[in-house]
Amino acid sequence: MSVLIIYMSRHGCTAKAVDLLARALPGSAVFDLGAVKNPPLDAFDTVAIGGSIHAGKLQRKLSKFCRDNIEALKAKRLGLFLCCMEEGEKARLEFDQAYPAELREHAAATGLFGGAFDFERMNFLERAIVKKVAKLDKSVSKLDEKAIESFAEKLKGN
Ligand SMILES: Cc1cc2nc3c(=O)[nH]c(=O)nc-3n(C[C@H](O)[C@H](O)[C@H](O)COP(=O)(O)O)c2cc1C
Repeated sequence: MSVLIIYMSRHGCTAKAVDLLARALPGSAVFDLGAVKNPPLDAFDTVAIGGSIHAGKLQRKLSKFCRDNIEALKAKRLGLFLCCMEEGEKARLEFDQAYPAELREHAAATGLFGGAFDFERMNFLERAIVKKVAKLDKSVSKLDEKAIESFAEKLKGN
C-alpha cells in the first residue's frame, strides 16, 4: 500500500494531526497543498486528504483540489479527514459541507480529528473573532489522537 497524505493547515493543528497520521501509516508521503501545487496522485494507490475549518469553510485550495480530481480520487482507496473545533452533529455537518458527496460516499475512512485554538499564531482579527464567538482568551488543544489512529487503521483496511 503506497499512501499519499495531502493537507492544508492555517495555524499548524492539521499539520500536527498529519504528523501523527504519517507515523501511523509508515512509509506514507506527505504533501502540503499550501506549498506544493500538484501532488503526484498517479504514484499512489491510497490517498488521505484533510484540512481545517475557518468561518465554516474548508481551505478553498483544498476544496478545489477535491472537485478538480474527483475521478482520479475515486480510483484510489480514499480517506477524508477534518480538523475543527465544533463537535458532534455540527462537526459532521461541516465535514459534509467540506467534501463532495461523491468522495464522501467513496471514502474507505473518514475522520474528525478535533482541533486547537492557538492564540500565538492567530492575527489580531482572528483573535478577536475567537474571543467573541468561542468566548476563549487562551490557547486550547482538543486533538483526538484515538480518532487519528482509528482513521489510519480503517485506511489500511483493518
Ligand atoms: C478565525 C477562526 C475561525 C474558525 N471557525 C471555525 C468554524 O467555523 N467551525 C469550526 O468548527 N472551527 C472553527 N475554527 C477552529 C479551527 O477549525 C481550528 O482552530 C483548527 O484546529 C485549525 O486547524 P489549522 O491550524 O490546521 O488550520 C476557527 C478558528 C479560527 C482561528
